[in-house]
Amino acid sequence: MFIRRPWTWLVCAAFVCLLSVVSRAQAPTDLPAVLAKPPAAPTQPLPYSHRQHLELGLVECVDCHVQPDAGPMMTFPATDTCMSCHATQPATTAALKQLAGLAASGTPIPWVRVYRMPSYVYWSHASHLEAGVTCGNCHGAVAENEAMRQETNVTTMTGCLACHEARQVYTDCADCHEPRQ
Ligand code: HEC
Ligand code: HEC
Ligand code: HEC
Ligand code: HEC
Ligand code: HEC
Repeated sequence: MFIRRPWTWLVCAAFVCLLSVVSRAQAPTDLPAVLAKPPAAPTQPLPYSHRQHLELGLVECVDCHVQPDAGPMMTFPATDTCMSCHATQPATTAALKQLAGLAASGTPIPWVRVYRMPSYVYWSHASHLEAGVTCGNCHGAVAENEAMRQETNVTTMTGCLACHEARQVYTDCADCHEPRQ
């Protein structure tokens, strides 16, 4: 009987299409906006590439950004973490020689910060990761980055509130502007 009424299928297909268009259009509205013109990447002490390292398929974000005590900061990797791989290979390029030198000196690598908020804003990674928000939701497509740059407006009040208003959580001024211990 369905064969005699092909329009039933057409109507169904059109409805499914419409639904997927609507849900795709709505899904990202609670996320910080991806910047149309991201600022240029700052010059870092070493030409570290997220893309090159994540493509290896051997390390994940949290292997390097270890978030001590499941707390507010993700932190930058200890040079020993880099050397767990690089110490096993000869330092053939200028950048790898510099890395070996820094590791030998025991001086932490002075990475230049990319995402940064004013100190009067209270912020913690912990509550957001617990709520299931992912790194990429706030920092963009990091695994495709050659050089880290600010891809989203997550460090602005507009970026925070896009999500908080959509999810109806913590929208009072004091939630983000009250000093904590
Ligand atoms: C809800 C949004 C959000 C999510 C999710 C998020 N970040 Fe962040 N991240 C931020 C903001 C905002 C800052 C700037 C914080 C500041 O300046 O105090 C930041 C700063 C950082 C920093 C530098 C400062 C620090 O914390 O040591 C690193 C590294 C970082 N994020 C990595 C990650 C990784 C890795 C993940 C996933 C495991 C992640 N972030 C998930 C919003 C987010
Ligand atoms: C899982 C192992 C692993 C870890 C951990 C690791 N690397 Fe690498 N890294 C590699 C491999 C593999 C290459 C590619 C080497 C090649 O192509 O000859 C590479 C390439 C590089 C290069 C480019 C070298 C060049 O001149 O072309 C730099 C710079 C670098 N890594 C720095 C770092 C730093 C800094 C860290 C720590 C934050 C780190 N790596 C952690 C495996 C690793
Ligand atoms: C092998 C170690 C390593 C891995 C794995 C790694 N990162 Fe990083 N990440 C670094 C280093 C080193 C820096 C500082 C240099 C730079 O900005 O490129 C950094 C910087 C960042 C920053 C900028 C923080 C700031 O405000 O300056 C973010 C955001 C970030 N990483 C997110 C991620 C995410 C998301 C992943 C997983 C998809 C990831 N990283 C995987 C080593 C790593
Ligand atoms: C993509 C969504 C999203 C973004 C972006 C986001 N938040 Fe949140 N935030 C949440 C959710 C969900 C919770 C609720 C967690 C819970 O259930 O307690 C939360 C909770 C909080 C809390 C209360 C918990 C705590 O840690 O004290 C503060 C404060 C906060 N966010 C500040 C910020 C700030 C500041 C920004 C922007 C830099 C931001 N958030 C960006 C989703 C987001
Ligand atoms: C979800 C977190 C969040 C909430 C809620 C929030 N803010 Fe903010 N606010 C921020 C962040 C992040 C910044 C710093 C970045 C920026 O200036 O956009 C900021 C910056 C500000 C600034 C400085 C702006 C400037 O240009 O120097 C003022 C003033 C301010 N907020 C007032 C308020 C008031 C008033 C409320 C309540 C109606 C409020 N905020 C609610 C996150 C929040």
